[in-house]
Amino acid sequence: MKHLIDPMDLTKEELDQIIALAEDIIANREKYQESQAHRKLATLFYEPSTRTRLSFTSAMMELGGNVLGFSDAKNTSVSKGETVQDTVRVVGCFADVIAMRHHIEGAQLYASEVSRVPIINAGDGSHSHPTQTLTDLLTIKRELGHIDGITIGFCGDLKFGRTVHSLIKALSRFKDIQVVLIAPDELKLPDYIKQDVCDRLGIRYKEVPTMEEVMPELDVLYMTRVQQERFLDQDEFDRVKDSFVLDAKRLASAKEKMAILHPLPRVNEILTEVDADPRAAYFRQVENGKFVRMALISKLLEWKDDPAHGMPPVEDPIYDPELRCTNRKCICNNEHAPHKFRRTESGTLRCWYCDSKIK
Ligand code: CP
Repeated sequence: MKHLIDPMDLTKEELDQIIALAEDIIANREKYQESQAHRKLATLFYEPSTRTRLSFTSAMMELGGNVLGFSDAKNTSVSKGETVQDTVRVVGCFADVIAMRHHIEGAQLYASEVSRVPIINAGDGSHSHPTQTLTDLLTIKRELGHIDGITIGFCGDLKFGRTVHSLIKALSRFKDIQVVLIAPDELKLPDYIKQDVCDRLGIRYKEVPTMEEVMPELDVLYMTRVQQERFLDQDEFDRVKDSFVLDAKRLASAKEKMAILHPLPRVNEILTEVDADPRAAYFRQVENGKFVRMALISKLLEWKDDPAHGMPPVEDPIYDPELRCTNRKCICNNEHAPHKFRRTESGTLRCWYCDSKIK
């Protein structure tokens, strides 16, 4: 069965099919309005959300289907100790497809191991957010006309920003991508993305301390919130915070056709004076999120019983009683998920569920 847990679960052909379907839905909305009639989507949100949950709901409604679920697990049997795996087993009796957001990393992968309906990862901790990635790819395609060949700057919190991690992975499916990483030392992109994705899959990248020095090169500027709460030292935050605020002055040297993306919510990293600039694509990006989720739901339900669209092949997991994942936010340290591991091509041992490096 096809789930979407990680952006790399989709082949390039599947990615292209979802984006093409989203574009067709935009052009012919009435054609799809009853296409999922009598089908049900469950939205299981263990963590707050505005865009992702409501766009999934709106997407299924626009396809003629129905939606059930929860936006606060405290009001469910989760509060009595029901596990993620038992919850999806139960909800799979009521729904045809499940979109789940969880603060615990690897929760959706663990859920997918027992689910009888497709699971869509709607964000797991700081780890992955593949449907935001589909939204971002569709937005780049619609703003620029192409994805191959772009230079994209990621700015802000690249360490904890799950949208950044997922989009870089998915961009490895496209040709001639150049990534520019703009972040303070404390919030640099994790090594596992640099090594296992950029180096291994051939994405060229460079790291710079400010956006000004690279602004004229960029086709896309992907802004993220610098999370003050991650800094141990307030002086350190005060020193870097203004390097990562996009205003009209900083935008002056950008290309005329550059697209400004942001997964939102924003706090103050894009001043509202930028909103009226034609390059500000972040609210168009929100609407694209609904269309691409319509396409994703449709395709996962179409592919559900098609052996040509399974999950990518994986090597057998490594079990070793001497080894533990030390990420306190990993599913294997929060439920009875096994501690199991995989070895990457570069030889590094990583947690099966959260990708943490095992020392
Ligand atoms: N971009 C995004 O995931 O927004 P929400 O947290 O509001 O769903």
